[in-house]
Amino acid sequence: MPTAEINTNSRFSLVPRRLLESFAKRGVRGTIRRLGRAASSYLRERRLGIHTTGSISGDELDFDSASFGYQPVPYASFDAAMRHVEIRPNEDVFIDFGCGMGRAVVLAATYPFRQVIGVERSGSLSQIARDNLRRATSKLRCNNVIIATQDARHFEVPTETTHIFMFNPFDEPIVTTVLERIRDSLDVNPRNLSIIYALPQCRPDPLVDVPWLVLKHKLETIDSDWQRLAIYETR
Ligand SMILES: C[S@@+](CC[C@H](N)C(=O)[O-])C[C@H]1O[C@@H](n2cnc3c(N)ncnc32)[C@H](O)[C@@H]1O
Repeated sequence: MPTAEINTNSRFSLVPRRLLESFAKRGVRGTIRRLGRAASSYLRERRLGIHTTGSISGDELDFDSASFGYQPVPYASFDAAMRHVEIRPNEDVFIDFGCGMGRAVVLAATYPFRQVIGVERSGSLSQIARDNLRRATSKLRCNNVIIATQDARHFEVPTETTHIFMFNPFDEPIVTTVLERIRDSLDVNPRNLSIIYALPQCRPDPLVDVPWLVLKHKLETIDSDWQRLAIYETR
């Protein structure tokens, strides 16, 4: 059929076009690095048995403009961040605010946390995260993992929480509310707490002036063209 032929050809013709666009934007080495990362991400998903790739806008999720859409943390970025935080086995509690399809939750649960919690506003993304967790069960070291379908603004932070992860989930007003909730939990139970926070290069960092946090690490080598990642700890 002529139409099918045209469709097939146009689909295949996208590959060299995308490659040429990538060469123009990132150069040959940048493109090869990117292809390598895509291959390694594919292998990580296969090994864990999860499906977390893709991107969904806030509009498609029917969110207000302060809540951003879905995009998973690059595997290399999560690995890099975790090299900068200490974990006390069977004591520490990790929360991913805006856990989406659960990539960071699954990865966190491969460490010996006492509990890992994902908080996600979208019901359908929460369900995908739960499915992914079920598929990855045999690979996890933490078996106390929950996904709360909730707006982060209303989530009461457990007073044992020691690690917070936020991969550009929402805008400053929500970040401020979530920080207040974290602060409330610290008032009840003063403790060391780390916040791993990723945000676009072009935006000011709302955590930088928070008096009870200190910037410990800035990861410039993040596996992305547009994001940076900062690690804060309580003073
Ligand atoms: C950039 S994705 C990060 C996904 C995941 N943390 C990861 O690193 O793979 C941001 C996620 O935050 C969720 N989100 C946005 N606003 C939210 C809110 N107010 N409360 C809870 N989740 C929210 C989105 O639905 C999306 O899944």
